[in-house]
Amino acid sequence: MEIKGRGNWGSQFGFIAAAAGSAVGLGNIWKFPYMTGRYGGAAFVLVYLLFVLLICIPIMNSELLVGRKSQKNAVGAFKVLAPGSPWFIVGVMGILAGFIILSYYSVIAGWAVAFIFKSGAYMAAGADHANIFVGSITSSVAPLIWHAIFMFMCIGIVAAGIEKGIEKYSKILMPLLVLIMLVLIIRSVTLSGAGAGLSFYLKPDFSKLTAEGVLAALGQAFFSLSLGMGCMITYGSYLKKDQDIPANSYWIAGTDTGIALLAGLAIFPAVFAFGLEPGAGPGLTFITVPAVFAAMGPVGHFFGILFFFLLTIAALTSAISLLEVVSAYFIDESKWDRKKAVWIMGIIIFLLGIPSSLGLGIWSGVKILGGRDILDSLDFIASNILLPLGGFLLCIFIGWYWGTDKAIEEGNTGAKGAITLGGGYRFLIKYVAPVAIFIVFLKSIGVF
Ligand code: TRP
Repeated sequence: MEIKGRGNWGSQFGFIAAAAGSAVGLGNIWKFPYMTGRYGGAAFVLVYLLFVLLICIPIMNSELLVGRKSQKNAVGAFKVLAPGSPWFIVGVMGILAGFIILSYYSVIAGWAVAFIFKSGAYMAAGADHANIFVGSITSSVAPLIWHAIFMFMCIGIVAAGIEKGIEKYSKILMPLLVLIMLVLIIRSVTLSGAGAGLSFYLKPDFSKLTAEGVLAALGQAFFSLSLGMGCMITYGSYLKKDQDIPANSYWIAGTDTGIALLAGLAIFPAVFAFGLEPGAGPGLTFITVPAVFAAMGPVGHFFGILFFFLLTIAALTSAISLLEVVSAYFIDESKWDRKKAVWIMGIIIFLLGIPSSLGLGIWSGVKILGGRDILDSLDFIASNILLPLGGFLLCIFIGWYWGTDKAIEEGNTGAKGAITLGGGYRFLIKYVAPVAIFIVFLKSIGVF
């Protein structure tokens, strides 16, 4: 069964690079450290790892196999596998989540773009990083211009099409990012006073873990692995039958988790060494990283510029996956031309991002969910509610409606390695994952 006119991945490596490129992004380097800092450190990390293993890896397999089986986008997949049923609404929810996430994602990515050009000046400013950072994101116009530039880059790549665009850009530069993070880690852990950061990050203190923190860990696992909104369904739809889904899932999840853990290792020792506040929020990475590089002298300036360049690339490979999901829906279902779909969606998402950016500055008085600013509220709704809910419904769909037998058969088609889907996958998808998500939801709204 070959797909006509939709394109396929050029190679197995191209697919892994693109899917890992989607997963690895601001979620790992910006959000994971600041969530870990906000919710108490190592205990949060442990819960996060547990969720990746027991909930997210089975869902990763499921999204990929649903995509390949149906050869469709997030909504179309459910229409093909469950014709005449309301299951497609899960896909619609996913598209909505994609809109929301990309709108503020692009704002944060804009900061990274700005830092490519500004980090030299930031680092030269010595101890004043926090103030300079806050000053730059609270102004009205400049962050919006960076946000526009970032969205424009996304539109350009996605409009070029899946193989010419996404695959080509994803294959390069990722290894370089890991390398520069290693440099960062070495400098960070050798700062004097780094030990307190290491123990915050590595020694769990479960008394610090709250129900809200557990929900945030769940949301973070979905967010970081690009799950729960049909992204991996869409990417899976470009997979060929001879490509190995279980092996891909482990590779993607392993790479993503590894990079998040490295980011934490780079950030926390430095946070404590410089006497910064681990719960400082969304600015944590942007404030800490320049401080570490500044501590390296002139060569640090070079590394700083390189770091923010690579962070921009990592954000770009994630953002294009979000834009692709949203656009693929209109290309497949409404028969729009690719360029038209991508431009219209890109512009709408840009506009949607404006309040998030202003919410950090002139609209900072606007507090929505429990005192959260606009960006934080949108992230809460998308990451902690829509994505886990999408994952939950996918588990129910596969475990209790479409059937795990069909899922296992599709998942194992083309699997060559030792890892195939079987009883363990069935048990996790039918019982463990949905029950766990359900309990976390109940707990976080205070039912028990
Ligand atoms: N996973 C990406 C990151 O960590 C963000 C992302 C890309 C995403 N595609 C997604 C999140 C789909 C949720 C759903 O930065």
